[in-house]
Amino acid sequence: MRDAAVSEQLLAWYDASARVMPWRVGPAARAAGQRADPYRVWMSEVMLQQTTVAAVKAYFERFIVRWPTVVDLAAADDAAVMAEWAGLGYYARARNLLACARAVVRDHGGVFPGTADDLRALPGVGPYTAAAVVAICHDEPAVVVDGNVERVMARLFAVQQPLPTAKPELVRLAGQVTPRLRAGDHAQAVMDLGATICTPRNPACGICPLLGICAAQAQGIAAELPRKLPKPEKPVRRGVVWLAVRNGQILLEQRPAKGLLGGMLGFPTAGWDGRDGAAPFQADWRDLGEVKHTFTHFHLILQVLTTNTTANPDRGEFMPLQPADLPTVMRKAYDLAAADPAFAVKTPR
Ligand code: ADE
Repeated sequence: MRDAAVSEQLLAWYDASARVMPWRVGPAARAAGQRADPYRVWMSEVMLQQTTVAAVKAYFERFIVRWPTVVDLAAADDAAVMAEWAGLGYYARARNLLACARAVVRDHGGVFPGTADDLRALPGVGPYTAAAVVAICHDEPAVVVDGNVERVMARLFAVQQPLPTAKPELVRLAGQVTPRLRAGDHAQAVMDLGATICTPRNPACGICPLLGICAAQAQGIAAELPRKLPKPEKPVRRGVVWLAVRNGQILLEQRPAKGLLGGMLGFPTAGWDGRDGAAPFQADWRDLGEVKHTFTHFHLILQVLTTNTTANPDRGEFMPLQPADLPTVMRKAYDLAAADPAFAVKTPR
């Protein structure tokens, strides 16, 4: 295989079929000289880590309308950013997003640095995000490797070694096919291919621009690659969540910045997150049943307890609740309680 042929085929396909995304400068506009805004590309790449394009689009649009520039985001309230991120998961990303915006304003005059090394010195910016920003915004031939790119490379070169052991080899191969010109379009083309044609199951090899070049397709093993070492089973953790209602308001607390759901608003919980704890106050708590949620490293089963009260607990604060501001596991507990006729929370809006 000629390495240059890979990029030639991919770029021709991308010119015709690039997905439209709110942060993307499409191939025609790029060819006409338009450049992607590093703020938008950085934000989209942070949101897209562990998350699909479909899930990210609405969040991205809301963030950009509310905070159109990195200077606006740097000046935002922490709580407003965390609430806007609610439901997207992996909340450390939101804390880092804000820390990074503030560092760009404080240390770089509100302009994103232009080199991958300087970008990597910013909070929450790893090798992937730094490479994506310099490739997409500045057409630097940086090697951009996410899960999609790993899969495309494993198939294109029929790499039999399983993940994660194969990672360095897949990065090397991705570098080998990265062109000097149009590196940003190339990176986005590989990711689009992985998301739409070279999919994990049932790859659509018949319509692939790399048909005839792809080694796995030629050997009839595309769907089997990349091979993966078995992952250990996730353990199950159990805990309790308390939903206390007073005068239509609900007891909430800001979770500690470090740890699970760090910095997010939530109901008092115990027993599952490394924190022990008794109920926020003594009461006749009613058991509403369980909710289940899966985190990266464990499954969680939370027992949902509720009470109507006039108490003054020493933990948390009674506040009006905007359910959309809750992380998903807390939202599940809220939805279970809200279905109970005795649950008397009033939501604003
Ligand atoms: N997934 C993550 N980043 C992406 C990008 N820039 N283009 C397409 N898919 C992506």
